[in-house]
Amino acid sequence: MKKLRVKLDKRSYDVLIGQNLLDKIGKLIKSRNTGNDIFIITDTKVASIYLDKVIKSFKNNGFVSIASGIIPEGEENKSWKNYEFLLHQLLDFDKNLDKNIVVICLGGGVVGDIGGFVAGTYRRGVHCIQVPTTLLSQVDSGIGGKTGINLGVVKNLVGMFYQPCLVIIDPLTLQTLDKREFRSGLAEVVKYGIIKDPSILSLLENHVNDLLSLSDMGLIEKIIQSSLNIKSRIVEQDERDEKDIRVVLNFGHTIGHAIESASKYKVYKHGEALSLGIMAAFEISSRLKILKDKNFQGRIENLLRNIGLPLKKNISCKNYAILESMKYDKKFQDGKNKFILPVKPGETKIKIGVDNKIIEDILKIKI
Ligand SMILES: NC(=O)c1ccc[n+]([C@@H]2O[C@H](COP(=O)([O-])OP(=O)(O)OC[C@H]3O[C@@H](n4cnc5c(N)ncnc54)[C@H](O)[C@@H]3O)[C@@H](O)[C@H]2O)c1
Ligand SMILES: [Zn+2]
Repeated sequence: MKKLRVKLDKRSYDVLIGQNLLDKIGKLIKSRNTGNDIFIITDTKVASIYLDKVIKSFKNNGFVSIASGIIPEGEENKSWKNYEFLLHQLLDFDKNLDKNIVVICLGGGVVGDIGGFVAGTYRRGVHCIQVPTTLLSQVDSGIGGKTGINLGVVKNLVGMFYQPCLVIIDPLTLQTLDKREFRSGLAEVVKYGIIKDPSILSLLENHVNDLLSLSDMGLIEKIIQSSLNIKSRIVEQDERDEKDIRVVLNFGHTIGHAIESASKYKVYKHGEALSLGIMAAFEISSRLKILKDKNFQGRIENLLRNIGLPLKKNISCKNYAILESMKYDKKFQDGKNKFILPVKPGETKIKIGVDNKIIEDILKIKI
């Protein structure tokens, strides 16, 4: 088992990474004394595969007070309605408001975001343990404390920063994950390579097939660890996204999020929209002459293609709708957009106020 620490003063926590940790979850949590009343938040799909196993592990380790709140799977369920539903489920479990609750978020980024928000707001905050089960959540959303829900089509509009007290990652859960979801998660790994660590890009380039076939779990653990190392160092410097440091993690997301929202979350997975957003960021950077390494764009295009991520958007996703959706980006400042643009492997630059004409042009012909 590998252990990584996210250092945030009193809110510091461990991230445990290892095969079969899901079977040991009861023991791991027992030894940390985070609470005896276990409330597991998950979605229908993850529940059907892993909930029994997790409950069994808690029971085997002496936990007797265990309940679960299950929401339907999918991005559209990161909603106010399900947030309220989960709070009521939690209150049913905690009738006398005297329990020592620990919320376990078992699932992908949707469960992690809504579950973290429930944990952060119920009784003004109860312990939260993230147990991410998709590649995307294992390399990204499982740490960092951003929690929340979508409001209408506006993504992540309502939420809070709420750090978990522990993160448990079992890469074996990826064996049951849909390949499309796995590819989508790799888009975030490509992002880390571009913004901070070119060695990740080489690793992906050299082992893309081994990764996709899950033939080498050691390799998967390595990309999870490298990704989380980068994210935790960034989060430690700018926990609440206030210093223009954490914003670099938004690379590729300005247009990516807008594409997701413009297509009402129905056409693209998060990482697929990110792949399109990454390509758009390269194109903007190249046009504004910010991109210094001429081979970089082609290299990333090849890598995304080899992973099986989209490079051109589906025509059903309208350009004007994408531009409209961009206005709801929380990174918009004084009516101006904010882009993280690639300079060379491992280096980016913040650009505020990219002309809409350039974006429109790129959306029309390039991606
Ligand atoms: N909080 C953050 O910092 C942060 C960062 C990035 C993304 N996000 C959010 O994460 C969400 C996307 O997360 P996601 O891609 O994990 O999507 P997801 O949670 O919707 O999971 C994708 C699908 O995989 C299923 N699934 C999960 N684990 C599985 C497993 N082990 N085996 C089989 N099926 C499994 C789920 O039921 C779902 O159908 C978005 O809402 C995005 O906004 C948050
Ligand atoms: Zn993302």
